Amino acid sequence: MKICCIGAGYVGGPTMAMIGFKCPDIEVVVVDINEARIAAWNSDKLPIYEPGLLEVVLAARGRNLFFSTDVNKHVGEADIVFVSVNTPTKTRGVGAGKAADLTYWEGAARVIASVSTSSKIIVEKSTVPVKTADAIEKVLRRNCSDPSVQFEILSNPEFLAEGTAIEDLTNPDRILIGGKDTEAGRAAIATLASVYEHWIAKDRILCTNLWSAELSKLTANAMLAQRISSMNSISALCEATGADVQQVSRAIGTDSRIGPKFLNASVGFGGSCFQKDILNLVYICETVGLQSVAEYWHQVILMNDFQKQRFVERVISAMFNTISKKKIAVFGFAFKKDTGDTRETPAIDVCRGLMADGANLCVYDPEVEDKQIYQDLGTEKFEWDHPSPRSAPIPKTAIAISHDAMEAARDAHAICVLTEWDRFKNYDYQAIYDNMVKPAFIFDGRNILDHAKLREIGFIVYALGKPLDPFLQKHYD
Ligand code: UDX
Ligand code: ADP
Repeated sequence: MKICCIGAGYVGGPTMAMIGFKCPDIEVVVVDINEARIAAWNSDKLPIYEPGLLEVVLAARGRNLFFSTDVNKHVGEADIVFVSVNTPTKTRGVGAGKAADLTYWEGAARVIASVSTSSKIIVEKSTVPVKTADAIEKVLRRNCSDPSVQFEILSNPEFLAEGTAIEDLTNPDRILIGGKDTEAGRAAIATLASVYEHWIAKDRILCTNLWSAELSKLTANAMLAQRISSMNSISALCEATGADVQQVSRAIGTDSRIGPKFLNASVGFGGSCFQKDILNLVYICETVGLQSVAEYWHQVILMNDFQKQRFVERVISAMFNTISKKKIAVFGFAFKKDTGDTRETPAIDVCRGLMADGANLCVYDPEVEDKQIYQDLGTEKFEWDHPSPRSAPIPKTAIAISHDAMEAARDAHAICVLTEWDRFKNYDYQAIYDNMVKPAFIFDGRNILDHAKLREIGFIVYALGKPLDPFLQKHYD
C-alpha cells in the first residue's frame, strides 16, 4: 500500500511520521510545494519543534517514510491521499473574518484529479467546514479525465495537540473516521482503519458518517476552548472578589462530570485551531440561519480577546498608568510550552497592546526564532495561515529580542510571563530582581511562578485570577 500526504505542516508531518514508523509495510510519502520545508524534513533540524518527533522520523525516514516536493508523482502513485493543507480564515469577500478559505484545499483536489490514473481514497486530515467533502468530490470528479478512476472521500480529523503530538499519536483517545454509508464507503473506511490497526485497538476507532466526523472536530475544539474561556471569565471575577481561580478550578475539576483538564485560566488561548475552528462554526451556523447558536459560540472568542486586553490593562494600570519608554521583559512568545509555534499566540496581542502604550519590549522565548517574532507582530489578523507571508515584518528596531532570560530582564521595570515554559519556574529570581528597576513587577499570565517567594524577594506580583497583591490593591482602592 502507498500513502501520500499533501502538506508537510504541523499535522501532516508528525502524523505521517507516526504512520510510517508504526507501519513498515506501507510506503508513506509526505509532499509539499514548500521546498525549504521538505529540505528541513530531510535534515536533522526538522521544521517544527516537537518532543520525540526527531526519533520517530529518524527510525522510519529512508526506510518507508519519505519527504518530497514531487507532488504529482507521489499523489499519482498513492492508494490513499491524505490532504493536510492549510485552511486559513478568509480575509476578504463573503464570510471574511469567519469562513474558511479553501483555496489550498481546492488546489490540492485539482492536483489529485489531474494526476490520478488509479482509484484512490482521499482523506480530509486538516480541519474543514462541514460538507467540504461534497465540494471536494465535485472538483475531483469534474477534473479527472479517466472515467474508470473512483475517489472515495473520508474525513479523518486529527486531534493531536502540539507539544504532546507524539504521545497523542502513539496513544490517541480515539481515531475518528467518517465516510459514506455505501459499499464503497464502508470498504474505504475499513482500508483506512487497517492502517491505524497496526498500533491502535479496534475499539478506539470510531466510524461515523462524513458530516458527523467533520463537525466533531469543530465541536471538540470549540468545547475545549469554551472551558478555557469559562475559567478566564471566572478569573476576572476572582480578582474582583478575592477568590483564587486555581482553587476554583481544582474544586470544580474534582467533579467527575466536569473533570480536571483544560481548566487553567491563562492570558488567553492561542494555536492554529481554536479561534479558526470556532469562527468556522459560527459562520456555518449563520449560513444556516442559526443566529443564536452562532452568537453563543462567538462569545468564546470575545472572552478570549477580553482576557488579553484585560491583561494589558492590568500591566498599564499597575505601573502607575504609564509604561511609555519603560523596558518590559516578555518571557515566552510561543502559544504554549514545548513548541516553537506562534500561530495565534496571545503574546502577539499582548505585545501589540503594550507597544501601543509605548513600552520598550524585550522578548525571550527558548524555541521561537527571532524572525518569526518580527513577522508575527507585523502580520494582520488571519493573514498568518498562508504559505508565504503577505505582510511585512515589523522593523527590528521596534522590539528587542534576547536569547537569555536574565539579559531580557536586566534594567526592566517588569516581566510578563506569557508562555508556561517549565524553565521559567526555576530561574534565580533574586538575581533577576537585583538587576531590575524598582519597584520591580511580575505579571504572571500563566500562573506558573511561586508568587509568595517572589513577594518575599520584593517583587510586586500580579497573578491571573488570584487575590490582588496588597500593593496593587492599595493602588486600585
Ligand atoms: C488543540 C486541540 O487540543 C487538539 O485536539 C486539536 O487537534 C488542535 O487544537 P493545540 O492548539 O495544539 O491543540 O494545543 P492545546 O493544548 O489544546 O492548547 C491550546 C491553547 O489553549 C494554548 O494556548 C494553551 O496554552 C491554552 N490552554 C490550554 C489554556 O489556556 N488553559 C488550559 O487549561 C489548556
Ligand atoms: P497544519 O498546521 O494544518 O499542518 P500548516 O500550515 O503547518 O498546516 O501546513 C500546511 C502545508 O500545506 C504547508 O506547508 C503548505 O506549503 C502545504 N500546501 C498547501 N497547499 C499545497 C498544495 N497544493 N500542494 C502541496 N502542499 C501544499
